[in-house]
Amino acid sequence: MQVITINNNPELFKKACRLIFDSTVLPVRPNVDWDKWFTAISARFQNKFPTIWALLSDDGELIGTINMIEDDLGNGTTLSPWLGGFAIKPAYRGRKIGGVLIEAVKAKAKENGYSKLYLRTETTSAYYKHLGWSFVEKAIDKHGTATEVYSIEI
Ligand SMILES: CC(C)(COP(=O)(O)OP(=O)(O)OC[C@H]1O[C@@H](n2cnc3c(N)ncnc32)[C@H](O)[C@@H]1OP(=O)(O)O)[C@@H](O)C(=O)NCCC(=O)NCCS
Repeated sequence: MQVITINNNPELFKKACRLIFDSTVLPVRPNVDWDKWFTAISARFQNKFPTIWALLSDDGELIGTINMIEDDLGNGTTLSPWLGGFAIKPAYRGRKIGGVLIEAVKAKAKENGYSKLYLRTETTSAYYKHLGWSFVEKAIDKHGTATEVYSIEI
């Protein structure tokens, strides 16, 4: 297994986006249109630093994704950077693979001079608490979705 960036690999990028869409967007906003969402997300991830997409692959198979972005709320927050787009393919869940991806993003953030990382979650706070993340605040994102913000020292 290895973690690689996939910003410049259109095929893997689209597969990763589909996994994120199915696993994290649809459960919270079931009416979002895939084509529109993919167009918007593609523009957002073009050549932006320190935006990172990472892929965990096994014989080239995409089994999980994660990224680091400047702002995952879009509401003018000053908190940054954020871990986002985090999903493991259903068949691979429960095998401690998620933690590998989180550690990769923490390392990337540290390498870029950050000492804290943030994330938002509507469904998975118990998982992050289990991994040592701390509750920061409740927030409303630019779509009006209520969410919770967590952070961790890196
Ligand atoms: C959340 C997700 C990324 C976790 O990845 P994973 O590789 O399956 O998780 P792991 O196997 O590394 O689990 C590590 C530990 O967290 C626990 N855990 C996993 N999911 C959990 C959850 N939803 N709530 C509480 N604990 C959880 C596991 O039991 C395990 O505990 P242990 O260390 O005591 O054995 C994965 O389940 C997923 O893709 N879910 C759908 C998408 C999603 O919710 N993304 C996050 C959006 S913010």
